[in-house]
Amino acid sequence: MTRIGILLSGRGSNFVAIAEAIQRANNEADATSALRNARISIVISNRADAPGIAAARSRGLPSAVIEARGRTRAEHDAEILTCLQEHQVELICLAGYMRLLSPAFVRAYPQRILNIHPSLLPAFPGLDAQRQALNYGVAITGCTVHFVDEELDHGVIVLQRAVPVLENDEETSLSARILEQEHRAYPEALERVLSGRYEIAGRRYVLRNRDEASTPPELKKCNS
Ligand code: GRF
Repeated sequence: MTRIGILLSGRGSNFVAIAEAIQRANNEADATSALRNARISIVISNRADAPGIAAARSRGLPSAVIEARGRTRAEHDAEILTCLQEHQVELICLAGYMRLLSPAFVRAYPQRILNIHPSLLPAFPGLDAQRQALNYGVAITGCTVHFVDEELDHGVIVLQRAVPVLENDEETSLSARILEQEHRAYPEALERVLSGRYEIAGRRYVLRNRDEASTPPELKKCNS
């Protein structure tokens, strides 16, 4: 069983997609999905009014609000880390978490923090990635699930999904089509990571055959 912690700041639709995928994997006869071995142990938001926190409560999942106000980044991160450790979290999924993590936080969970970003990284890191893609005039954009390292939107890429930019696209229409792909990509990437069927070589995430996976699946460490 791998205990997952979710960090979010807003809507939480990616969190819900992950929670539903875990539930589906447990209800279905498919015994091969590594999501069957996952449990969301805690959902943490830095904002009390985040709809994602309400969604966690309504699903009966443990949740916590840890606001940054009046705390330094180091203090805030330390408090979140304590909460994650209290819930024995082994793997963290950032799901629209709108704060940079301090280096100490990242070092506490090496190659054990995932993030989703609404562009094909390394294009358009940072805020408003969909608008950046439209303004730049690219024909194809998409989403990226990646491990988090100490640089913004930079860690090893687990999975990407492409989304074409249509002639009459606006930020909202493009964002909605990317979000549809995000909701598939994040659970799929999580399944891959939980399965243990991978190695990290330099910046490359290399998938291994199912037979080569460790049993029981365990989270791999960076071997570069
Ligand atoms: C998503 O577009 C995600 O890629 C980005 O923030 C947004 C979060 O949306 N990191 P939601 O809160 O999961 O609905």
